[in-house]
Amino acid sequence: MNQNSPRVSSRALNPLSHHDDPSKTFCDKTQAKATTATQLFRDHEMLTILQKKIVPVYMERRIRKGLDVWSAGCSSGEEAYSLAILGLEELAKHKEPARLTVFATDISEEQLSKGKRGQYLYSTAGAGNVNRYMTQLKKYATVEGNVIQMQAKVRSHIKFGKFDLRCKPRKHTFDYIVCNHVFQYYDDDAQTHFARNFIQVLNPGGLIFIEGLTSRAQMNAGLVKEPGFRNVYRPEGQETK
Ligand SMILES: C[S@@+](CC[C@H](N)C(=O)[O-])C[C@H]1O[C@@H](n2cnc3c(N)ncnc32)[C@H](O)[C@@H]1O
Repeated sequence: MNQNSPRVSSRALNPLSHHDDPSKTFCDKTQAKATTATQLFRDHEMLTILQKKIVPVYMERRIRKGLDVWSAGCSSGEEAYSLAILGLEELAKHKEPARLTVFATDISEEQLSKGKRGQYLYSTAGAGNVNRYMTQLKKYATVEGNVIQMQAKVRSHIKFGKFDLRCKPRKHTFDYIVCNHVFQYYDDDAQTHFARNFIQVLNPGGLIFIEGLTSRAQMNAGLVKEPGFRNVYRPEGQETK
């Protein structure tokens, strides 16, 4: 297969695919209007949580067959690759590393195609952040001149698929859900709806990382902040790990 061609159809791989028509549900009250701007290794806190909380708790318990992460509103995939690379690195520190899958979803098919291609320009990928993680990146991508090309060893861990957050996710469970720079484009009702859906598909002990969640939507959805972090939440009533 040509390394630059999409590896799989989004339909075949989308674990969250649904038959809801967003226009017939809650969703007609909001309008998708977010920009698609994103960067590699953009959010240090989001990545720290994966390394310091998600992987260790998972490896300690290993009650499921693998670690499942959802990058919701992933745009062109930089966030998903960042999560996959650092997740794989963290898992590799253990004797018997677990399977890792990052489900990367967005409403924009154009952005998802870019994500499947996995090719980024160093000059626009967020050079400061990329340099910070260059050692790890080079294990999973070729970096030649201005071009960063993700290799199969990381691409095989990412499943891209179209999913509109205004719809109800089909049954699937995740250990870590990341929704970064999407909520700020939606009102409190929409945010509450998205957050409640996240709770429905979160494994016990899992965490949700949301940039831009309002305190009203946080309260309505029943999320509490993970102590010591800005944008990390768990469902009310679940103990801190
Ligand atoms: C600013 S980008 C954020 C990308 C990435 N999460 C990050 O933080 O770098 C926002 C993305 O959210 C997506 N988006 C907006 N509304 C959405 C919705 N209702 N369902 C799924 N994706 C949505 C847009 O298509 C866009 O790609």
